[in-house]
Amino acid sequence: MGMFKVRVAEVLEETSNIKSFRLKRADGAPFDPYPAGAHIDIVGPTDVVRQYSLCSPPYELDDYVIAVKLEPASRGGSQALHEVAVGQELEISAPRNLMAVAEGADRHILVAAGIGVTPMISMAYHLHRANQEFELHYFARSRDEAAFVDLLETKSGFGERVKFHFGLQRDDQPTVLAAAFAALTHRSHVYTCGPEGFMDRVKDTAASVIPEENVHIEHFQAGEPVDTSADTPFEIEFEDEIYEVPVGRSIVQVLEENGVEVDTTCQEGICGTCIMGVLKGEPDHRDQCMSASEKKANDQIAACVSRSKSPRLVLEMF
Ligand code: FES
Repeated sequence: MGMFKVRVAEVLEETSNIKSFRLKRADGAPFDPYPAGAHIDIVGPTDVVRQYSLCSPPYELDDYVIAVKLEPASRGGSQALHEVAVGQELEISAPRNLMAVAEGADRHILVAAGIGVTPMISMAYHLHRANQEFELHYFARSRDEAAFVDLLETKSGFGERVKFHFGLQRDDQPTVLAAAFAALTHRSHVYTCGPEGFMDRVKDTAASVIPEENVHIEHFQAGEPVDTSADTPFEIEFEDEIYEVPVGRSIVQVLEENGVEVDTTCQEGICGTCIMGVLKGEPDHRDQCMSASEKKANDQIAACVSRSKSPRLVLEMF
């Protein structure tokens, strides 16, 4: 994976446990354009690689902004980044996008909880600039614990599109969500990012109004462990070579054992780095990074976790 150096130009305390970092390319050049909702890999000071959404306007390419929440159980990722100071250099990847803004939608509803607001901010900037119909619903335990409130309310230019929901009980969320989705049509799209349980509530409520494939989810942690007791071996064909993937080994592992390098980051099915094309066969999708419609199309696979329902998958590298 191509990585490049950036310099930290600004660090702001957004809340007691969330800091934002403004990054500039170390060589002084502007960044390449990227789609709203994209994320980057960051190699932190302890060499831990983590994914963070870009939350700056996607059309302003002098800098990238990310926000990092200090995780209490941090294994060196968020904690080390919270100690990074202005002027320090970090390594990042080019942006990747797993939650693109849908073309041709009549309405977009962005629904975020907590730090999940970050990809929604760049999407909101994009939608506002493109003059699209949208709303951003932002759930947080309290105003003090919500990052970027001031930016969203007054500086973003789309404050009237943002609905804050502070301190709401979990049981009350479906009612608020149902009201937010009441006017949606089959051409409307819902995007969500936040804790898994919250995103499940958004998905369930939205899917009773719009097609399930119009609900887009951004995962930042692996899902529940999959039952692997019925796993069987299968074959993969890649560049005219055939390899067997035994039980307990992944496609990525088998390819790498055979000298084929596959880019990976999370190895847990959440970042999308390892996605390969499927030319033939039916994948058994076990990732959290592809949408329901992408999985249904069966033409891509997250090779670090997913397996096969058919005896053989014919794969290509993107
Ligand atoms: S390496 Fe992250 S999804 Fe496979």
